[in-house]
Amino acid sequence: MSLKGKKILLGISGGIAAYKSVELVRLFKKQEAEVRVIMTPSALNFVSPVTLSALSGNEVLINLFPEVDPAKTETVENKTWHVYTGLWADLFIIAPATANTIAKLACGISDNFLAATVLSARCPVIVSPAMDEDMLSNEVTAQNISRLKEFGYWVIPPATGELASGLHGAGRMPEPTEIFEYAAKFLSGEFERRPLKGKKILITAGPTYEPIDDVRFLGNYSTGKMGFSLAKAAMQQGAEVTLIAGPTLLETPLNVKRIDVKTSDEMFNAVNSNTIGMDYVIMSAAVADYKPSKKIEGKLKKSSEDNLTIETEKTIDILKYLGENKGSFKLVGFALETENEIDYAKDKLNKKNLDMIVVNNPKVEGAGFGTETNVITIITRNGLQEKFEKMTKYESANIILSKMIEL
Ligand code: CTP
Repeated sequence: MSLKGKKILLGISGGIAAYKSVELVRLFKKQEAEVRVIMTPSALNFVSPVTLSALSGNEVLINLFPEVDPAKTETVENKTWHVYTGLWADLFIIAPATANTIAKLACGISDNFLAATVLSARCPVIVSPAMDEDMLSNEVTAQNISRLKEFGYWVIPPATGELASGLHGAGRMPEPTEIFEYAAKFLSGEFERRPLKGKKILITAGPTYEPIDDVRFLGNYSTGKMGFSLAKAAMQQGAEVTLIAGPTLLETPLNVKRIDVKTSDEMFNAVNSNTIGMDYVIMSAAVADYKPSKKIEGKLKKSSEDNLTIETEKTIDILKYLGENKGSFKLVGFALETENEIDYAKDKLNKKNLDMIVVNNPKVEGAGFGTETNVITIITRNGLQEKFEKMTKYESANIILSKMIEL
């Protein structure tokens, strides 16, 4: 496959697999791509910049603060070369990406030329982790890799085999030909990343608070993480996202329109006045089923009685209402069930006239309110029923969206 004129930035960090990157440069050059190489200082222990600059035909970039040619010092490019290098590239590949470099990228640390360039790059970034299996499976590294995915980086799964330590396991950098093919496919647009481009999606998230008096409410333990992950993933996939959020401390994902509400009535009104033109509506909020029949003004005083009875009434079932008044949008609901999950969920799918339902059981390890992970089963109106392993809420969100697109 010809990559004529494509600008490839190859970042090499300090791991034994760096020797494979030499071959990778050759593969790109053979296909007529332009290649610039950035090395971290520790990568210099593994391969020589002389080899890489000879093969790439460009000077290898290493120092964040290079000694510059006095004749060029006045140019902006020369002073902020990491920014211009990031802007130059069509694709940035970091191979090998060590645990240390991955940790830096996950935290936005930019203390070397490679990390600083990643921060300022506007092109897609592909990361190929390579390290010993124990470093890879360490929770910190696992979380850092998952954060990178969440930030929108592409991660090539490490291969399994013999490792530099002499041990056998996962952590090998894939062969240069495999990384080359991955990059070539990426550049040819084979990994369509924005399947929701041009689509509008309404997502609800978080709990609702139903006021008892001015200082107390009926609520639930929802933190909104699932709905916020859906909003972020949908935005990354190109959708125009409106997020209606109950009370939560979560940050609004970038480029997402957020509408804050407190009560189920407010959520109903916000949803109802925002469904026009939507292609999809996902109700992931944990809306209260009951609310106090009337709100007491001020603060309810403690009485001499031992018991307090609060009269409640049903809230509007927003999802059911949407199912009964469906426009042209596809409707996705959630079901939180502690027993007979599948039967109850199928029942909700039918009764609420949904196109898809996502079921989870808060009693299952790794699922439920406040956790970083979820364990979901997806059931669709067209008969699909699929259970997924425990994964992060962000990963669950991507799966939910991919199944929703297939509807
Ligand atoms: N839902 C809603 N409005 C409500 C209650 C729930 O829109 N007043 C939505 C939730 O956002 C979720 C779905 O309905 O998408 C299912 O919520 P869940 O609490 O599991 O089910 P309920 O229908 O409330 O039934 P039950 O609590 O008896 O299981």
